[in-house]
Amino acid sequence: MSDDDFTTDHECAAELDASDPMADVRAGFHIPLAPDGSESVYLVGNSLGAAPRRTTEYVQAELNRWATLGVHGHHTGELAWEPYHELLTAPMARIVGGLDSEVVVMNALTVNLHLFMVSFYRPTISRHKIIIEQHAFPSDHFAVESQIRQRGFDPSKSMVVLSPRPGEQTLRRDDILAAIADNADELALVMLPGVQYYTGQVFDMAAITAAAHAVGAAAGFDLAHAVGNIELDLHGWGVDFAAWCTYKYLNGGPGGAGGAFVHETHIDDESLPKLLGWWGTAKATRFEMGTTYEPIPTVESWQLSNAPILSMAALRASLDIISDVGGIKEMRRKSVRLIRYTDFLLERLLGDRIECITPTAIDERGCQFALRVVAPGADGRRVFEDLEAAGIACDWRYPDVIRVAPVPLYNSFTDVHRFVTTLAGLLP
Ligand SMILES: Cc1ncc(COP(=O)(O)O)c(C=O)c1O
Repeated sequence: MSDDDFTTDHECAAELDASDPMADVRAGFHIPLAPDGSESVYLVGNSLGAAPRRTTEYVQAELNRWATLGVHGHHTGELAWEPYHELLTAPMARIVGGLDSEVVVMNALTVNLHLFMVSFYRPTISRHKIIIEQHAFPSDHFAVESQIRQRGFDPSKSMVVLSPRPGEQTLRRDDILAAIADNADELALVMLPGVQYYTGQVFDMAAITAAAHAVGAAAGFDLAHAVGNIELDLHGWGVDFAAWCTYKYLNGGPGGAGGAFVHETHIDDESLPKLLGWWGTAKATRFEMGTTYEPIPTVESWQLSNAPILSMAALRASLDIISDVGGIKEMRRKSVRLIRYTDFLLERLLGDRIECITPTAIDERGCQFALRVVAPGADGRRVFEDLEAAGIACDWRYPDVIRVAPVPLYNSFTDVHRFVTTLAGLLP
């Protein structure tokens, strides 16, 4: 069925599911429950991805190894804990478009942003500004603000905060590029999201990176909402650094380990300031317990501590599923179809009772929809609560947005149909 043949009836959703080559993948996940105990329509993978069924097996294997091997688990067998994070490197690198030497799973998102700002934000009296956006995730805002203060600068002078034009919801690409050019001589770093957490807008990371480099600044990205959602080419785009979490579209579980990228051009640069820990020093000599630091010749030299194995085992389970389905390219293929179907139903069944502030162009959006209830007499927060009560798991983002994200791994076209028809029934 082509996109032009979509219809609003349930049979169309069933037919789309029947012909979906990824339909079986859903059976590999636990779908969280609705208040009445039935399976929910789980549309909050943009916040916390659903649990893969095989996660239990992967985590249990590590619990068993701990129980039976104790400390020898660090060095025994194919799953030895000391190099365990290396098992995640190649699959993760494929998802973000990085070389294996540029990608590592370590720490958590905000921690990694700080570690990279230590290296890539090197303010001088003349060049000290960081560009962020007005609706940056608060953790990013705090991280940038505190880095600026830490270096003895004043956030009110060094933080350039970009806002959409009056009456607009998303930042225009050309306005971002113009802001970079306007601050050319004073700009040290551009730190923006790959996908904006509130609106779902995709930023043009290639163009932003090129513009930052053209004025002598670095470009770093928070990929929390981009990784596992859209295709990325961090190496090709020349991005200096990026950090992401793994608990959203990568289904790594609550508080899961973070992901990190540093472009290969920086890996061997010993002039970069760096916070050091024993997990960043040469693997061959680490356990000789010397105090001469020899950086691992990959992004692993930014590692500080030994890895959280249980959390990495959970992530490995999910990355194996992603590899099995053919990777991010295949996921995005289904995602685009889900997006188009959702657009179609929203337009036909909701019309102007809902405003979608997510960009409409497919290359400017991932799978998240940011919806505002604009039907006269309807209260958006109340509608969100009623959706939840009806078994549609979504989220509310202050001040007035309902976010829903049909994800390709476990959401079906029937899920989308149930969501939109339920929403239509709740609105006057
Ligand atoms: C865009 C964005 N940045 C940063 C964070 C903070 O992540 P963490 O708590 O893993 O550091 C989140 C968490 O959801 C996020 O969505």
